[in-house]
Amino acid sequence: MEYKAPKGTFDILPQADDAWRMSAKWQYVEEVIRKCVADYGFKEIRTPIFEQTELFVRGVGDSSDIVSKEMYTFLDKGERSITLRPEGTAPFVRAFVENHLAQTPGLHQYFYMGPLFRYERPQAGRYRQFHQLGVEAIGCGKPEQDVEVIDLACTLHERLGVKNLSVMINSIGDESSRAEYRKALQEYLQPHISSLSPESQIRFSKNILRILDSKAPNDQKLLENAPRTIDFLSPEAKDHFEELKKLLSKMGIPYIVNHKLVRGLDYYNKTVFEIVSEELGAQNTICGGGRYDGLPALLGGPDLPCIGFATGLERLLQTMLGQNVSFPRPSHPSVFFVPLGAEALSMAMDLLCQLRHKGIAADIDMGAKKVQRGLELATSADADYAIVIGDRELEQKEIELKNLATREVKKIPLSSLISTLEELHGL
Ligand code: HAM
Repeated sequence: MEYKAPKGTFDILPQADDAWRMSAKWQYVEEVIRKCVADYGFKEIRTPIFEQTELFVRGVGDSSDIVSKEMYTFLDKGERSITLRPEGTAPFVRAFVENHLAQTPGLHQYFYMGPLFRYERPQAGRYRQFHQLGVEAIGCGKPEQDVEVIDLACTLHERLGVKNLSVMINSIGDESSRAEYRKALQEYLQPHISSLSPESQIRFSKNILRILDSKAPNDQKLLENAPRTIDFLSPEAKDHFEELKKLLSKMGIPYIVNHKLVRGLDYYNKTVFEIVSEELGAQNTICGGGRYDGLPALLGGPDLPCIGFATGLERLLQTMLGQNVSFPRPSHPSVFFVPLGAEALSMAMDLLCQLRHKGIAADIDMGAKKVQRGLELATSADADYAIVIGDRELEQKEIELKNLATREVKKIPLSSLISTLEELHGL
């Protein structure tokens, strides 16, 4: 039996065929993200990987694709219905309400990073286990809050060196204006049902707004003259959207108003937005979010306005690599020891430990037999220097510090090796 990672999942490794699966690249992206969200005052929140199924049914909505067909749901041994989290906003709100965070001092701005699970048809940029950075701001209903969150999303991508992204925005209003809009869309599409794609025909009765997402050319053509959500907004939602556009322009954040942007989760209202990359092909949305003002109250908490977004880390990394963004050199040993024989091994272990205890990264080929093989290992570890210790070095009490990049060799008495390396590291 040959075991494989389950369909739609992948391993993140020190070395991988696809560069986007290399762990050092993930670490770098996560590090930049952590710094960026901290600069904006967002604090980390970690919630369980699984939750009660009902949380998603109620929070995300049972007409959404996520809840209706993509959840990993099972009964645990206590017969409770459990779901691997398919998204992070409902769990975040559950944690916010359960832990009474509204009563804690300070601004309520949070972020999370971690895996999510959706039973989707896997393809490039779409997996069954994937990772998101999620950002959520709770408590402020002003358009300034929308701008802060959108600006954070843009800064984040900018700091990672991603180019050619477009910010799409729209407003879908509140529940009552959406109900009216749904009716208008139904009336508009009714005479054309039979020419809609099979998927849109199903959506017509189940979740008509999602027809706006259809990529089928004929559907798109039909939708060109469809009613627009912004023509159904309440005066308050309309003002909010107008103000948001003004503020974005004032901040110099370019955006495109996309009347077909509705997002696939039921909790949104007013502002919705997405950041798309031209380089990603069909799955071109890197980041998606919006307001979800009713969700805390719906989940039994205080009635507070909220806005947030999530960026898919796989799509982010794939875009960065597609654009040849440069990544920093991964962590690597400063020195790599190649000891030949038992006495040399004992000496090298002693030096290795001293260096590591001083915070200087070092590594060793404990089973070294041949110099050549040892140097190859030093090179694949991306070490700065290699030190071969053999009989001659032990006898003369002098070693050669070999710079693996320049091939330069420096002779050093064994007794001053540690101090020389300390100096090289500015210690
Ligand atoms: P979402 O649009 O479902 O929103 O997902 C956000 C991002 O996660 C997508 O733009 C994409 O980059 C990534 N993503 C989603 N599904 C997959 C998948 N199967 N494979 C790879 N990447 C994927 C949410 O999840 C909301 N909770 C965002 C939010 C936060 N809204 C408000 N606050």
